[in-house]
Parts: sequence; C-alpha cells; structure tokens
Amino acid sequence: MMLWISYVVTLVACASTFSKTEQVASHSPYFTVQNIQSEGYHAEAHHAVTNDGYKLEMHRIPYRRYENKGEVNRPIVFCMHGLLASSNSYIYLGPQYSMGYHLADAGYDVWIGNARGTKNSRHHITLDPDSSTEKFPFFDFSFEEIGMYDIATMVDYVLNYTGRPKLHYIGYSQGGTTFLVLNSMRPEYNEKFISAHLLACVGYQNHFPSSQIARLSRLTDSLYSLTLSMGLVELFSPNSSSTTDKNVNNSSFDLCSNYASFQSMCKMVVDNIQLENVDPDWIGGAAVKQIAHYGQNIRDKAFTRWNYGLEKNVKLYGSETPPSYNLSLITVNTTLHYATADTIVDERDVLAMANDMPVTSARKVKRENFSHIEFTSSKDTKDLITDYIIEAIAMAQKTIANVMINSEKKNQEDNEIEDESSASGSGYNPGNTFKLYLTALSLLGQNFINKQI
Ligand SMILES: *[C@@H]1O[C@H](CO)[C@@H](O)[C@H](O)[C@H]1NC(C)=O
Ligand SMILES: *[C@@H]1O[C@H](CO)[C@@H](O)[C@H](O)[C@H]1NC(C)=O
Ligand SMILES: *[C@@H]1O[C@H](CO)[C@@H](O)[C@H](O)[C@H]1NC(C)=O
Ligand SMILES: *[C@@H]1O[C@H](CO)[C@@H](O)[C@H](O)[C@H]1NC(C)=O
Ligand SMILES: *[C@@H]1O[C@H](CO)[C@@H](O)[C@H](O)[C@H]1NC(C)=O
Ligand SMILES: *[C@@H]1O[C@H](CO)[C@@H](O)[C@H](O)[C@H]1NC(C)=O
Ligand SMILES: *[C@@H]1O[C@H](CO)[C@@H](O)[C@H](O)[C@H]1NC(C)=O
Repeated sequence: MMLWISYVVTLVACASTFSKTEQVASHSPYFTVQNIQSEGYHAEAHHAVTNDGYKLEMHRIPYRRYENKGEVNRPIVFCMHGLLASSNSYIYLGPQYSMGYHLADAGYDVWIGNARGTKNSRHHITLDPDSSTEKFPFFDFSFEEIGMYDIATMVDYVLNYTGRPKLHYIGYSQGGTTFLVLNSMRPEYNEKFISAHLLACVGYQNHFPSSQIARLSRLTDSLYSLTLSMGLVELFSPNSSSTTDKNVNNSSFDLCSNYASFQSMCKMVVDNIQLENVDPDWIGGAAVKQIAHYGQNIRDKAFTRWNYGLEKNVKLYGSETPPSYNLSLITVNTTLHYATADTIVDERDVLAMANDMPVTSARKVKRENFSHIEFTSSKDTKDLITDYIIEAIAMAQKTIANVMINSEKKNQEDNEIEDESSASGSGYNPGNTFKLYLTALSLLGQNFINKQI
C-alpha cells in the first residue's frame, strides 16, 4: 500500500514536469483520415490482417499538402506510435508541428501504423474485444506481438501495395521497442528497412532513471494477476460504457474524491491532464500486459521476452529466465535519438544498445531539458529532430541511387539482368505518450488501492 502511494506520487511528480503544449485540436482518432484531409492533404486508410487474426488499420499521407500526386519512387516512411497512443500522434499537432505532415511535405510517402488493441485496430477476425470472455484472449499481448506480428504485417502490406522492396522506419518509444523486437526475433525483416530512426527508444533497462519506480516494479507480476482477476485487461477502452474501464477524467476524478489523502496529488494529475488539454478521445488504448511487460524488464534490469515464471519459462524457452532480445542481430542502419531529460530512458542504456547493434549510432537531442514526451509534442521537435531525419533519409536515398547506378553499370558490363531496386522513406511521431503512460499506471494504482482498502 505505501509502495503504491509513493509510486503514484512519483508518477505525479513526473507528470507535473510536463511542458505545456499548445492547444491541440480534439480530433477523434476514429476519423484520422478526415482529420488529415481537413488540413489539405490527401489521406488514405488501409487494412491488413495479422496471422493471428488482428485487423489493423494504417493511415497514409502520400503527397505534399494541396497535392494529388508525388514523384515516382519517392521514399516510403513507416511511422509507429508509442504506448497508449495511435497513428493520430503523428498528425495531431497539425501541419506546423507534426512530423507526419513534415515528412509528407518533404516529398515522402508517409504510412502510419496502429498497433493491435488501439482504437483503429481494435478488431479481430473471431475475438470480440468487448465480450466479457473474449476480451481475455484478445488483450493477451504485449509489445512482443506488436513487433513480431503487427509491424511485420503492416510493413509487408506497404511493400506489397507500393511494389517497393524496402522502406524507412520511424518509431517513438514503444514504436522503437517493437522495431528491436521484430528485427531480433525475425532477422529476415532487417532486409526490408533502409534505415531506422528510433526516438526515445525503450529497450535495455539496466539504468531505469526512477529508482522509486524501479523498486515498485517488483510488484508488476502481482499487479498484473490482480488486474486480470478484476477483468481489467485493457487501458482506456474507446467504449466508455464498457465494464471495468473508465476514461481519464473519470478515473482521476474518482481517485480524488474517494481518498482524501490523495487529494492534492490527484488534483495535480487532473490539472495536468486538463491544462494539456488531452482529449480522452485522443488516447489509442493498450493492453495492460504491455505495461506489465515493461514492468518486468524494469524489475529484471533487462530487455527480455515475457517472463512466465520459472517452470513455464523452462517449458517454453528452455531456460529458467526468458531470453533477451538479441540486438546484435539488428543490421539496419539505425539512429537512436535520445534526450538527457528523458525520465524513462537512460543515456547509458541507449549507448549500450548502440554498442550492441552493428550499424547504429546514438544521437543526443541538442536541448538539455528535452523530455521523453517532447519527441512527439514539442514545437521545436522539427528543428531538433525532424529536419535531421528528413535529411538523413534523403542521403540514404542518394546512397542507394549511387549503388543502383554502379550496379547497373556493372551489370551492363557483365551483360547480366538485374532487378530494379528502390528505396523508401521514414516517418516520425508526435504524441503525449509518456503522460498517458503515467496516467495509465496511476489508474492501475487506483484499482490496486480499491482492492486493498
Ligand atoms: C499484394 O498486392 C496485390 C495487388 O496489389 C494483391 O492482389 C495481393 O493480395 C497482395 N498480397 C498480399 C500478401 O497482401
Ligand atoms: C462498443 O461496444 C459495443 C457493444 O459492446 C460494440 O458493438 C462496439 O463495437 C464497441 N465500440 C468500439 C469502438 O469498439
Ligand atoms: C464517468 O463515466 C460515466 C459513463 O462512462 C458517466 O456516467 C459518469 O458521469 C462519469 N463520471 C464523471 C465523474 O465524469
Ligand atoms: C471532468 O469531470 C468533471 C466532473 O464531472 C467535470 O467537471 C469536468 O468538466 C470534466 N473534464 C473534462 C476535461 O472532461
Ligand atoms: C546473438 O546473436 C549473435 C549473432 O548471431 C550470436 O553470436 C550470439 O551468440 C547471440 N547471443 C545470444 C545470447 O544468443
Ligand atoms: C529548456 O531550456 C531552454 C534553454 O535551452 C529554455 O529556454 C526553456 O525555457 C527550458 N524549458 C523548460 C521546459 O524548462
Ligand atoms: C548510416 O546512415 C547514415 C545517415 O543517416 C550514414 O551517414 C552512414 O554512413 C550510414 N552507415 C552505414 C554503415 O551505411
């Protein structure tokens, strides 16, 4: 109990450091295509089904603003959002500040994914996420499944649809985690990426910045069992009428009114949510297990597959502890963009990952107080990060073009026939993920408290 109080206090302390962002249009993620169109861009929705039955929606901004066509063979950039967010996070700050639009205006073909369980991808060929029984199998996934199946399926779809061999990837926070999972667990996917830019990528957890949360992460397994037993498998369900879940305002409100001792910090949470003008509609949602898996890795100071406990680990993995994701298998040219004021990603872990990945460099954001959430929500993200990425992608494209010219020359000399190859682009993401992550955790805390008192 005391642990949970300090857990929540820590979360609130983090939450209170959030920078205030400008007014955010309260667009519903269900209407991302319409929202993009209303800004003067061509927009498309695309759908793909994973091998395990999840129906995923992608959003595409293929051309520059006010244009209806683009250059042939322009780079394809696939962008992936963070925990609890959705494709909306790459566009919700509008054309002036959102990376999705900046990439499109740079002439790239922008695709933005939606992970299973988020509002736009909350569908399955057989399982109903709103059924009191089927929701358990539906939400039995963590970032591993999102990486191994969702990203794989969406990338395959985009490459098939565009007829191109490779693309560029941009992933924010969990969108970085899932990239690492995919390419280490299914190394054949490395071939499909020209380059990757991972923003505040969560991977190694040897030095989780908050020692308080690190201590509290010992509770992660009991907390997860508890929430399962309460029927809480999903955070921020789009269906406010659905049984156990509640919206942000509701949960904060309840927490405030029910427990006098929480009043002041509770007010801080609510104030932050309201000051930042987060429309609960903006939240993409997530499975509780995603957060529980991060909790295990924080506890174990590791970046490993799901920990089932000794007996089942031995049965499933052949070892008492779950295997680590082997980052040395990731051969994509990757840049890890990180910030020194990030309260969930430590510089030492970023540098260790860069060291273990064969073609990877770490790039520190040139503002000391840049935070985790600002990658997706700051006005200067364009100057500090996006412009760099746009240029890096353009350079990577030139390198490919040169290689192609050289190999074509060589092929002509050799009188051989060669396939044409091509390139792609990458994307970027804005979002309020960290704050939502914290809010989600405090929601879990609330449920825990309810049960305990
Ligand atoms: C690939 O694209 C073609 C048409 O563009 C479509 O008919 C086919 O079903 C696609 N294959 C997959 C695996 O998506
Ligand atoms: C909300 O729940 C109802 C019934 O439980 C379901 O038919 C509907 O599809 C759900 N809405 C969403 C967005 O999932
Ligand atoms: C919480 O949500 C329910 C329906 O989802 C609504 O009836 C109730 O008024 C809300 N409570 C608060 C405090 O907003
Ligand atoms: C949150 O709920 C309170 C109490 O019902 C209400 O006064 C307030 O307007 C709500 N805020 C938002 C952002 O919905
Ligand atoms: C990780 O992959 C590398 C390269 O294939 C291999 O040499 C190494 O043994 C692997 N490490 C583990 C722990 O499996
Ligand atoms: C961050 O630092 C800059 C100077 O580099 C300063 O102008 C700005 O106010 C700071 N922002 C925050 C949120 O502390
Ligand atoms: C990786 O990409 C960067 C551009 O972002 C480039 O400068 C570098 O040479 C590339 N590294 C390799 C090994 O291709």
